[in-house]
Amino acid sequence: MADEVSNPELMDKIVSLCKRRGFVFPSSEVYGGFNGFWDYGPYGSRMKRAVENLWWHEMVETRDNVEGLDSTIIANPTIWKASGHLDRFSDLMTDCKHCKARHRVDQMPDPKVCPNCGSTDLTEPREFNLMMKTYVGPVFDDEHVAWLRAETCQPIFVDFHSVRVATRQKLPFGIAQIGKAFRNEITPRNFTFRSREFTQMEMEFFCDEKSGMEWWEYWKEQRIKYYREKLMIPEDSMRIYVHEKLAHYAKAAVDIEVKFPFGWGELEGIHHRGVWDMSQHSKFSGQDLSYFDQDARESFMPTVVETSVGLDRTILALLGLFYDEDRAATQKEGMEDDVRVVLHLPPLVAPIQVAVLPQSKKLKENAYALYKDIDRHFRSEYDETGSIGKRYRRQDEIGTPYCVTFDFDSLNDNAVTVRDRDTMQQERIGVTQLRDYLEKKIGI
Ligand code: GAP
Repeated sequence: MADEVSNPELMDKIVSLCKRRGFVFPSSEVYGGFNGFWDYGPYGSRMKRAVENLWWHEMVETRDNVEGLDSTIIANPTIWKASGHLDRFSDLMTDCKHCKARHRVDQMPDPKVCPNCGSTDLTEPREFNLMMKTYVGPVFDDEHVAWLRAETCQPIFVDFHSVRVATRQKLPFGIAQIGKAFRNEITPRNFTFRSREFTQMEMEFFCDEKSGMEWWEYWKEQRIKYYREKLMIPEDSMRIYVHEKLAHYAKAAVDIEVKFPFGWGELEGIHHRGVWDMSQHSKFSGQDLSYFDQDARESFMPTVVETSVGLDRTILALLGLFYDEDRAATQKEGMEDDVRVVLHLPPLVAPIQVAVLPQSKKLKENAYALYKDIDRHFRSEYDETGSIGKRYRRQDEIGTPYCVTFDFDSLNDNAVTVRDRDTMQQERIGVTQLRDYLEKKIGI
């Protein structure tokens, strides 16, 4: 929702950069696109994979008490009855009879007036379910209806005991998954912020009721720390929204909000969901999904604390927060003509971490060999076309934190010049120390 930090010009610049440099573009564009669906190009998919890997590393690989899962997108449809999605996962929508625009009622500043044309001739608000429908099997009838998952957490709940038994985990422990989710959003908008197909990264932490609030506090701290220290989100660009109106089953909920180009928006939710999910799936499956605590010799329904973040929103937030136009710097590097567009992305998630640039095409053989060596350890790119200044600009625009120039002196001193994207300082580094140097700088 647009507010005091809305910056439509920045959004236009980001959309244009994304298209021009192959981060994100409309799905099936040759057919005019498809509203709410976006494709990630070469740099976008690299960056997406990097964020995904970082999240997985932080949430699963570095923890003994979180396991991974990769479940199907389509599953037994009763899951969505149990979760409440089929009955309640809906928004109120209204159509403007005058300009034909469709609106979500909760997003209209005045629900009686069309925000598009100002007309008051609106249809009666009606419920619109967001679940995406499909059919499984050869017959397209009601018996064969299935649903594309609207969130990745539901399969985690139903697989809880399979994971627990397979891994011999005891409570408390968590299960995490990254994957696609689908919602038939009435008004997809703000670029990838509200899409109809998107990726979620969710972790459900199962514990007993007594320790639920403590774990909720713990995960809240962990996630805030992750955004500050790993994704480098500045203090003043992130805030915590505390839910006062909670779902009937929930005990506590906060959202981590960040400044998107259109204003503040939700990036992640950290919710204490109580025993709701596991109880519902017990009821609807007819299976007892409670947990037996061997030490206490008692059985109880696990309490769940959830961390849930959208991958697409993470990418959009990073692009918006780290986009910069630097006029002074262009002169410093002898490029007087243009604005230096630079993405100050955190090196851990920059699509390209190191670019190798030969001073002259004559140095191709050595420079390319160096690039192949570097490419084994960092996301790298080799570029020999255009002046060095132009090549720096190309890398700045996609957020490459380090450019390594192989020059004629390199043939004699076995050293290269490393140029820092943010300070534009250059340092001469021996080729044998280069990997160590870059690892330290990138924070690997
Ligand atoms: N399991 C809880 C859940 O799904 P949610 O708030 O509906 O909660 C969690 O979604 C996160 O998923 C959001 O914070 C957001 O980052 C992302 N998300 C939700 N709907 C989205 C959409 N239509 N497009 C892109 N990302 C979305």
